[in-house]
Amino acid sequence: MRIVLLGAPGAGKGTQCKRIIDRYGLVHLSSGDILRREKAAGTELGGKAESYMNSGALVPDELIVQMMTEAISKVPPAGFVLDGFPRTVNQAGQLDKSLALIGQRIDVVLNLKVEDSVVAKRITGRRSCPQCGAIYHIENLKPRTDGICDNDGTALIQRPDDSLEVVANRMANYHRQTEPVVNYYKMNSSAGALYDVDADKDADRVSAVVFEKLDAVAKS
Ligand code: AP5
Repeated sequence: MRIVLLGAPGAGKGTQCKRIIDRYGLVHLSSGDILRREKAAGTELGGKAESYMNSGALVPDELIVQMMTEAISKVPPAGFVLDGFPRTVNQAGQLDKSLALIGQRIDVVLNLKVEDSVVAKRITGRRSCPQCGAIYHIENLKPRTDGICDNDGTALIQRPDDSLEVVANRMANYHRQTEPVVNYYKMNSSAGALYDVDADKDADRVSAVVFEKLDAVAKS
């Protein structure tokens, strides 16, 4: 199964992706996580992406498309879930073209919908594990011990782009550059069936709806 997860910053894409890959045995490809790994490793790509990410701007399409096409080419046949990509209409078109070249297409696009007012609280309260990538929230999804990852005991961190000012920029860019991608999938039915998911519920209830949709796609 090849899945795209769309949604605003803080909509819960990363949280749901981790549950999806556990249930369906897919590869999780998060453009944000890949960029953060490149930054941490001090690569040329990481260096180029850093200032865009820190200010809440999108990294230029040409860098992202190349990075994600390469990542997709290494995925085993069971499939993948894309998190944070595509994020512009141009990226969506490029993704479709590169999949068509290898005889593939996106099967399903899940659009996690959440009000802007919910997002800031989710993002500023997010804590993540730099070791295994697990995502927590200081109120909604707490680790067993404050500040410590349940999986590996690593100290949790806050992302540098999770400050209120940067979040405002990320949201503005989401509305301007990424929301049109929803329309792209609405208009191009051959590019993958689009489902809206109400993501303004607790994470388990969101997962239940997501799994129901994906179970139906997996059976079809
Ligand atoms: P990226 O890492 O993709 O960030 P994002 O899209 O802004 O999304 P987030 O990771 O902030 O949120 P999420 O939806 O995954 O929410 P999460 O599950 O963590 O991108 C970072 C930057 O990289 C971009 O700004 C850009 O510069 C660059 N970039 C990346 N991809 C790019 C691309 N394709 N093109 C160009 N540039 C690109 O949840 C958030 C919090 O809420 C957590 O604390 C979680 O515990 C909590 N939570 C989750 N679900 C729920 C729920 N249902 N109820 C209550 N709390 C919840």
